[in-house]
Amino acid sequence: MTTHKLMFKLLTATALVGLSTSSYAITLKLSHNQSRNHPVHKAMLYMAKEAAKYSDGDLKIRIYPNAQLGTQRESLELVQNGALAMAKSNAAELESFDKEYKAFSMPYLFKNREEFYKILQSKIGQEILQSSKSEGFIGLTYYDAGSRSFYAKKPIRSPADLKGMKIRVQPSPTAVRMVQLLGGNPTPLAFGELYTALQQGVVDAAENNVTALTISRHGEVAKYYSMDEHAMIPDVLVISTKVWNKLPPKDQKALKKAADESMMKMKTLWAVDAKKAINKAKNSMGVKFIKVDKAPFKKAVQPMYQELKQNDPKLYKLVDQIEKAQQ
Ligand code: GCU
Repeated sequence: MTTHKLMFKLLTATALVGLSTSSYAITLKLSHNQSRNHPVHKAMLYMAKEAAKYSDGDLKIRIYPNAQLGTQRESLELVQNGALAMAKSNAAELESFDKEYKAFSMPYLFKNREEFYKILQSKIGQEILQSSKSEGFIGLTYYDAGSRSFYAKKPIRSPADLKGMKIRVQPSPTAVRMVQLLGGNPTPLAFGELYTALQQGVVDAAENNVTALTISRHGEVAKYYSMDEHAMIPDVLVISTKVWNKLPPKDQKALKKAADESMMKMKTLWAVDAKKAINKAKNSMGVKFIKVDKAPFKKAVQPMYQELKQNDPKLYKLVDQIEKAQQ
Protein backbone atom coordinates (compact mmCIF):
# COMPACT_ATOMS: atom_id res chain seq x y z
CA MET A 1 0.00 0.00 0.00
CA THR A 2 1.36 3.39 -0.88
CA THR A 3 1.72 6.03 1.82
CA HIS A 4 -0.90 8.02 0.03
CA LYS A 5 -3.45 5.19 0.15
CA LEU A 6 -2.63 4.41 3.77
CA MET A 7 -3.15 8.04 4.75
CA PHE A 8 -6.51 8.02 2.97
CA LYS A 9 -7.61 4.84 4.79
CA LEU A 10 -6.64 6.25 8.16
CA LEU A 11 -8.44 9.49 7.45
CA THR A 12 -11.71 7.80 6.43
CA ALA A 13 -11.51 5.52 9.49
CA THR A 14 -11.16 8.54 11.77
CA ALA A 15 -14.03 10.25 10.02
CA LEU A 16 -16.27 7.22 10.56
CA VAL A 17 -15.42 6.98 14.25
CA GLY A 18 -16.00 10.68 14.53
CA LEU A 19 -19.60 10.28 13.39
CA SER A 20 -20.57 8.46 16.56
CA THR A 21 -19.57 9.88 19.91
CA SER A 22 -20.38 6.72 21.84
CA SER A 23 -19.68 3.07 21.35
CA TYR A 24 -23.18 1.66 21.27
CA ALA A 25 -26.36 1.89 19.26
CA ILE A 26 -29.71 0.42 20.17
CA THR A 27 -32.62 -0.45 17.90
CA LEU A 28 -36.03 0.18 19.42
CA LYS A 29 -39.03 -1.49 17.79
CA LEU A 30 -42.25 0.53 17.75
CA SER A 31 -45.65 -1.03 17.04
CA HIS A 32 -48.88 0.69 16.05
CA ASN A 33 -52.19 -0.12 14.41
CA GLN A 34 -52.55 2.58 11.76
CA SER A 35 -51.37 2.44 8.14
CA ARG A 36 -48.30 4.06 6.62
CA ASN A 37 -50.51 6.79 5.10
CA HIS A 38 -51.78 7.89 8.47
CA PRO A 39 -50.41 11.20 9.81
CA VAL A 40 -49.41 9.52 13.06
CA HIS A 41 -47.07 7.21 11.14
CA LYS A 42 -45.49 10.24 9.47
CA ALA A 43 -45.15 12.02 12.82
CA MET A 44 -43.40 9.00 14.30
CA LEU A 45 -41.03 8.70 11.32
CA TYR A 46 -40.11 12.30 12.06
CA MET A 47 -39.63 11.43 15.73
CA ALA A 48 -37.33 8.53 14.78
CA LYS A 49 -35.22 10.81 12.60
CA GLU A 50 -34.93 13.46 15.29
CA ALA A 51 -34.14 10.86 17.98
CA ALA A 52 -31.28 9.49 15.84
CA LYS A 53 -29.96 13.02 15.37
CA TYR A 54 -30.19 14.12 19.00
CA SER A 55 -28.63 10.88 20.26
CA ASP A 56 -25.73 11.09 17.78
CA GLY A 57 -26.86 7.88 16.15
CA ASP A 58 -27.32 5.88 19.37
CA LEU A 59 -31.08 5.48 18.95
CA LYS A 60 -32.51 3.70 15.93
CA ILE A 61 -36.29 3.40 15.95
CA ARG A 62 -37.89 0.88 13.63
CA ILE A 63 -41.63 1.39 13.13
CA TYR A 64 -44.03 -1.51 12.46
CA PRO A 65 -47.45 -0.23 11.26
CA ASN A 66 -50.77 -2.02 10.59
CA ALA A 67 -50.76 -3.98 13.86
CA GLN A 68 -48.12 -6.30 12.32
CA LEU A 69 -46.79 -6.92 15.82
CA GLY A 70 -50.26 -7.33 17.34
CA THR A 71 -53.29 -5.30 18.38
CA GLN A 72 -52.83 -2.27 20.61
CA ARG A 73 -53.59 -4.40 23.65
CA GLU A 74 -51.14 -7.14 22.66
CA SER A 75 -48.42 -4.59 21.90
CA LEU A 76 -48.92 -2.90 25.24
CA GLU A 77 -48.54 -6.24 27.02
CA LEU A 78 -45.27 -6.85 25.17
CA VAL A 79 -44.10 -3.37 26.14
CA GLN A 80 -44.95 -4.04 29.78
CA ASN A 81 -42.69 -7.07 29.94
CA GLY A 82 -39.96 -5.47 27.88
CA ALA A 83 -40.26 -7.80 24.86
CA LEU A 84 -41.18 -4.78 22.73
CA ALA A 85 -39.59 -1.36 23.29
CA MET A 86 -42.28 1.06 22.16
CA ALA A 87 -45.90 1.32 21.04
CA LYS A 88 -48.29 4.00 19.91
CA SER A 89 -51.53 3.43 21.72
CA ASN A 90 -54.49 5.53 22.64
CA ALA A 91 -55.64 6.89 26.02
CA ALA A 92 -58.89 4.90 25.87
CA GLU A 93 -57.02 1.63 25.43
CA LEU A 94 -54.52 2.59 28.16
CA GLU A 95 -57.27 3.10 30.71
CA SER A 96 -57.21 -0.66 31.44
CA PHE A 97 -53.46 -0.54 32.08
CA ASP A 98 -53.24 2.68 34.09
CA LYS A 99 -56.40 4.31 35.33
CA GLU A 100 -55.28 7.95 35.12
CA TYR A 101 -55.71 7.75 31.34
CA LYS A 102 -59.42 7.28 31.95
CA ALA A 103 -59.69 11.04 32.50
CA PHE A 104 -59.25 11.65 28.75
CA SER A 105 -62.19 9.42 27.82
CA MET A 106 -64.68 11.46 29.80
CA PRO A 107 -67.13 12.79 27.21
CA TYR A 108 -67.13 16.47 26.35
CA LEU A 109 -64.15 17.09 28.65
CA PHE A 110 -62.25 19.45 26.35
CA LYS A 111 -63.70 22.72 25.12
CA ASN A 112 -61.62 22.92 21.96
CA ARG A 113 -58.38 21.87 20.33
CA GLU A 114 -56.28 24.67 21.82
CA GLU A 115 -57.40 23.81 25.36
CA PHE A 116 -56.76 20.15 24.61
CA TYR A 117 -53.15 20.96 23.66
CA LYS A 118 -52.73 23.23 26.65
CA ILE A 119 -53.71 20.44 29.06
CA LEU A 120 -51.58 17.78 27.35
CA GLN A 121 -48.49 19.99 27.59
CA SER A 122 -49.20 21.17 31.13
CA LYS A 123 -47.94 19.61 34.37
CA ILE A 124 -51.19 17.60 34.56
CA GLY A 125 -50.66 16.06 31.12
CA GLN A 126 -46.99 15.33 31.74
CA GLU A 127 -47.72 13.73 35.13
CA ILE A 128 -50.22 11.37 33.55
CA LEU A 129 -47.48 10.22 31.15
CA GLN A 130 -45.29 9.37 34.14
CA SER A 131 -48.07 7.75 36.18
CA SER A 132 -47.69 4.28 34.65
CA LYS A 133 -43.97 3.84 35.41
CA SER A 134 -44.64 1.01 37.86
CA GLU A 135 -47.11 -0.60 35.43
CA GLY A 136 -44.23 -1.30 33.04
CA PHE A 137 -44.49 1.61 30.62
CA ILE A 138 -43.91 5.36 30.44
CA GLY A 139 -45.69 7.83 28.20
CA LEU A 140 -43.35 9.87 26.02
CA THR A 141 -45.81 12.14 24.29
CA TYR A 142 -49.35 12.56 23.01
CA TYR A 143 -50.56 12.67 19.41
CA ASP A 144 -53.66 14.43 18.14
CA ALA A 145 -56.41 12.02 17.18
CA GLY A 146 -59.08 14.62 16.46
CA SER A 147 -62.50 14.31 17.99
CA ARG A 148 -64.63 11.19 17.96
CA SER A 149 -68.15 11.05 16.55
CA PHE A 150 -70.62 8.28 15.69
CA TYR A 151 -70.92 6.87 12.18
CA ALA A 152 -73.24 4.24 10.79
CA LYS A 153 -75.24 3.02 7.82
CA LYS A 154 -78.09 5.31 8.87
CA PRO A 155 -78.12 8.88 10.16
CA ILE A 156 -77.78 9.41 13.91
CA ARG A 157 -79.23 12.77 14.89
CA SER A 158 -79.92 12.29 18.59
CA PRO A 159 -79.29 9.69 21.31
CA ALA A 160 -82.74 8.27 20.49
CA ASP A 161 -81.33 7.09 17.13
CA LEU A 162 -78.68 5.03 18.92
CA LYS A 163 -81.28 3.01 20.78
CA GLY A 164 -80.74 -0.69 20.28
CA MET A 165 -77.82 -0.21 17.89
CA LYS A 166 -74.73 -2.36 18.34
CA ILE A 167 -71.91 0.15 18.56
CA ARG A 168 -68.27 -0.74 18.38
CA VAL A 169 -66.22 0.90 21.11
CA GLN A 170 -62.57 0.64 22.05
CA PRO A 171 -61.77 -1.82 24.84
CA SER A 172 -62.42 0.92 27.43
CA PRO A 173 -64.88 0.73 30.34
CA THR A 174 -65.51 4.48 29.99
CA ALA A 175 -66.48 4.13 26.33
CA VAL A 176 -68.77 1.22 27.25
CA ARG A 177 -70.52 3.28 29.93
CA MET A 178 -70.88 6.28 27.59
CA VAL A 179 -72.62 4.24 24.90
CA GLN A 180 -74.88 2.59 27.49
CA LEU A 181 -76.01 6.00 28.74
CA LEU A 182 -76.68 7.09 25.17
CA GLY A 183 -78.96 4.09 24.70
CA GLY A 184 -76.77 1.92 22.45
CA ASN A 185 -75.33 -1.56 22.95
CA PRO A 186 -71.54 -1.20 23.31
CA THR A 187 -69.40 -3.85 21.63
CA PRO A 188 -65.66 -3.62 22.42
CA LEU A 189 -63.51 -4.69 19.46
CA ALA A 190 -59.92 -4.18 18.34
CA PHE A 191 -59.58 -1.51 15.65
CA GLY A 192 -58.34 -3.96 13.02
CA GLU A 193 -61.52 -6.04 13.26
CA LEU A 194 -63.84 -3.12 12.76
CA TYR A 195 -64.03 -2.82 8.96
CA THR A 196 -65.27 -6.41 8.59
CA ALA A 197 -67.55 -6.09 11.61
CA LEU A 198 -69.25 -3.05 10.05
CA GLN A 199 -69.40 -4.68 6.63
CA GLN A 200 -70.94 -7.90 7.91
CA GLY A 201 -73.32 -6.21 10.33
CA VAL A 202 -71.65 -7.61 13.47
CA VAL A 203 -71.93 -4.00 14.63
CA ASP A 204 -74.26 -1.28 13.33
CA ALA A 205 -72.12 1.72 14.13
CA ALA A 206 -68.76 2.91 15.40
CA GLU A 207 -67.24 6.12 16.70
CA ASN A 208 -63.96 7.63 15.66
CA ASN A 209 -62.22 10.54 14.00
CA VAL A 210 -62.56 11.31 10.28
CA THR A 211 -59.43 9.47 9.14
CA ALA A 212 -61.14 6.17 10.06
CA LEU A 213 -63.53 6.83 7.14
CA THR A 214 -60.79 7.26 4.56
CA ILE A 215 -57.47 5.79 5.65
CA SER A 216 -59.16 2.78 7.29
CA ARG A 217 -61.88 2.80 4.58
CA HIS A 218 -64.84 2.64 7.01
CA GLY A 219 -66.57 5.20 4.78
CA GLU A 220 -67.04 2.41 2.24
CA VAL A 221 -69.41 0.63 4.61
CA ALA A 222 -70.83 3.45 6.77
CA LYS A 223 -72.22 6.42 4.85
CA TYR A 224 -73.37 8.73 7.65
CA TYR A 225 -70.99 10.57 9.96
CA SER A 226 -72.78 12.47 12.75
CA MET A 227 -70.71 15.30 14.12
CA ASP A 228 -71.58 14.95 17.80
CA GLU A 229 -67.86 15.15 18.74
CA HIS A 230 -68.36 13.39 22.07
CA ALA A 231 -64.67 13.01 22.97
CA MET A 232 -61.13 14.12 22.15
CA ILE A 233 -58.98 11.18 23.15
CA PRO A 234 -55.27 11.53 22.45
CA ASP A 235 -53.03 8.83 21.06
CA VAL A 236 -50.08 8.11 23.33
CA LEU A 237 -46.54 7.06 22.50
CA VAL A 238 -45.21 4.75 25.21
CA ILE A 239 -41.90 3.06 26.01
CA SER A 240 -41.24 0.04 28.18
CA THR A 241 -40.01 1.06 31.68
CA LYS A 242 -37.40 -1.72 31.44
CA VAL A 243 -36.04 -0.36 28.16
CA TRP A 244 -36.18 3.26 29.35
CA ASN A 245 -34.19 2.45 32.50
CA LYS A 246 -31.42 0.92 30.42
CA LEU A 247 -30.95 4.03 28.27
CA PRO A 248 -28.19 6.44 29.29
CA PRO A 249 -29.63 9.77 30.55
CA LYS A 250 -28.36 11.58 27.46
CA ASP A 251 -30.36 9.27 25.18
CA GLN A 252 -33.43 9.49 27.42
CA LYS A 253 -33.26 13.25 26.98
CA ALA A 254 -32.78 12.91 23.22
CA LEU A 255 -35.79 10.62 22.92
CA LYS A 256 -38.07 12.82 25.02
CA LYS A 257 -37.07 15.90 23.00
CA ALA A 258 -37.72 14.11 19.70
CA ALA A 259 -41.07 12.81 20.99
CA ASP A 260 -42.18 16.26 22.15
CA GLU A 261 -41.24 17.79 18.83
CA SER A 262 -43.11 15.10 16.93
CA MET A 263 -46.25 16.00 18.89
CA MET A 264 -46.10 19.48 17.35
CA LYS A 265 -45.31 18.02 13.94
CA MET A 266 -48.44 15.91 14.33
CA LYS A 267 -50.49 19.00 15.21
CA THR A 268 -49.73 20.43 11.78
CA LEU A 269 -50.07 17.13 9.93
CA TRP A 270 -53.39 16.43 11.62
CA ALA A 271 -54.93 19.75 10.66
CA VAL A 272 -54.09 19.12 6.99
CA ASP A 273 -54.94 15.40 6.88
CA ALA A 274 -58.23 15.71 8.76
CA LYS A 275 -59.43 18.29 6.21
CA LYS A 276 -58.32 16.03 3.37
CA ALA A 277 -60.17 13.11 4.96
CA ILE A 278 -63.42 15.10 5.19
CA ASN A 279 -63.16 16.15 1.53
CA LYS A 280 -62.37 12.67 0.34
CA ALA A 281 -65.14 11.06 2.42
CA LYS A 282 -67.69 13.61 1.13
CA ASN A 283 -66.64 13.86 -2.48
CA SER A 284 -65.23 10.46 -3.42
CA MET A 285 -66.85 8.08 -0.96
CA GLY A 286 -70.32 9.60 -0.70
CA VAL A 287 -70.29 9.92 3.08
CA LYS A 288 -72.83 12.42 4.44
CA PHE A 289 -71.73 14.60 7.33
CA ILE A 290 -74.60 15.39 9.69
CA LYS A 291 -74.61 18.43 11.96
CA VAL A 292 -76.24 17.47 15.25
CA ASP A 293 -77.42 19.32 18.30
CA LYS A 294 -74.85 18.23 20.88
CA ALA A 295 -76.95 19.22 23.89
CA PRO A 296 -78.96 15.97 24.24
CA PHE A 297 -75.75 13.93 23.87
CA LYS A 298 -74.05 15.99 26.57
CA LYS A 299 -77.03 15.68 28.87
CA ALA A 300 -77.26 11.91 28.48
CA VAL A 301 -73.64 11.34 29.50
CA GLN A 302 -73.59 13.75 32.46
CA PRO A 303 -74.19 10.96 35.04
CA MET A 304 -70.67 9.71 34.27
CA TYR A 305 -69.25 12.67 36.14
CA GLN A 306 -71.40 11.98 39.22
CA GLU A 307 -70.55 8.30 39.07
CA LEU A 308 -66.84 9.05 38.94
CA LYS A 309 -67.14 11.42 41.89
CA GLN A 310 -68.74 8.65 43.94
CA ASN A 311 -66.63 5.70 42.78
CA ASP A 312 -63.21 7.30 42.45
CA PRO A 313 -62.88 10.71 44.15
CA LYS A 314 -59.16 10.91 43.39
CA LEU A 315 -59.65 10.49 39.67
CA TYR A 316 -62.63 12.81 39.77
CA LYS A 317 -60.31 15.46 41.25
CA LEU A 318 -58.01 15.07 38.26
CA VAL A 319 -60.92 15.41 35.84
CA ASP A 320 -62.12 18.44 37.74
CA GLN A 321 -58.64 19.99 37.51
CA ILE A 322 -58.63 19.43 33.76
CA GLU A 323 -62.02 21.12 33.45
CA LYS A 324 -61.04 24.08 35.62
CA ALA A 325 -57.71 24.64 33.86
CA GLN A 326 -59.56 25.40 30.62
CA GLN A 327 -60.79 28.82 29.62
C1 GCU B 1 -57.99 6.09 16.87
C2 GCU B 1 -56.61 5.86 17.39
C3 GCU B 1 -56.20 4.42 17.36
C4 GCU B 1 -57.27 3.54 17.94
C5 GCU B 1 -58.57 3.81 17.24
C6 GCU B 1 -59.70 2.92 17.77
O1 GCU B 1 -58.03 6.03 15.50
O2 GCU B 1 -55.69 6.63 16.67
O3 GCU B 1 -55.02 4.26 18.08
O4 GCU B 1 -56.94 2.20 17.84
O5 GCU B 1 -58.90 5.14 17.39
O6 GCU B 1 -60.82 3.36 17.76
O7 GCU B 1 -59.42 1.78 18.18
